[in-house]
Amino acid sequence: MTLQLAKPAPPDDDKRWKMVEVTMRRSGYASHALIETLHRVQGLFGYLDEPAMNFVAESLGLPLSKVYGVATFYHLFSLKPQGKHTCVICTGTACYIKGARELVDGLRQKYGIELGQTTPDLELSAVGARCIGACGLAPAAVVDGEVLGNLTVDQLLARIEKVIHDAT
Ligand code: FES
Repeated sequence: MTLQLAKPAPPDDDKRWKMVEVTMRRSGYASHALIETLHRVQGLFGYLDEPAMNFVAESLGLPLSKVYGVATFYHLFSLKPQGKHTCVICTGTACYIKGARELVDGLRQKYGIELGQTTPDLELSAVGARCIGACGLAPAAVVDGEVLGNLTVDQLLARIEKVIHDAT
């Protein structure tokens, strides 16, 4: 067993990292927990990006190259989308029941993209997540890191328009 002296800090104060930490702790931060941990990150955030993979690598005491290797080898993992802005829509059970589908439809109608796609101008990527740990706020989405709950299609689209507009 590896002695873990100081645990690395998560990339930011997003509460979902606590859930990722629980997954790693359950396995004693052992390296064999890598795939399960990446699954967890992807389930919560919708994709894997560099800060996430750094965090997982450091926490499990693995070289970053190993984490990238696993993340790119298995097709079930998707790396950070290409768009300047990211909208993660939770399609977990609670959110689905409360209208996640309408959110996905709204996104398709307005931007012409499905979950997992990026607009041709690279402004927006849409990603699906299985449960972002905010079921009480269903339907929920995360736009550029901000968790939004009890969402209507109009609210979601307005928020996306705002982040795109503010950045230009
Ligand atoms: S199902 Fe959407 S937050 Fe849990």
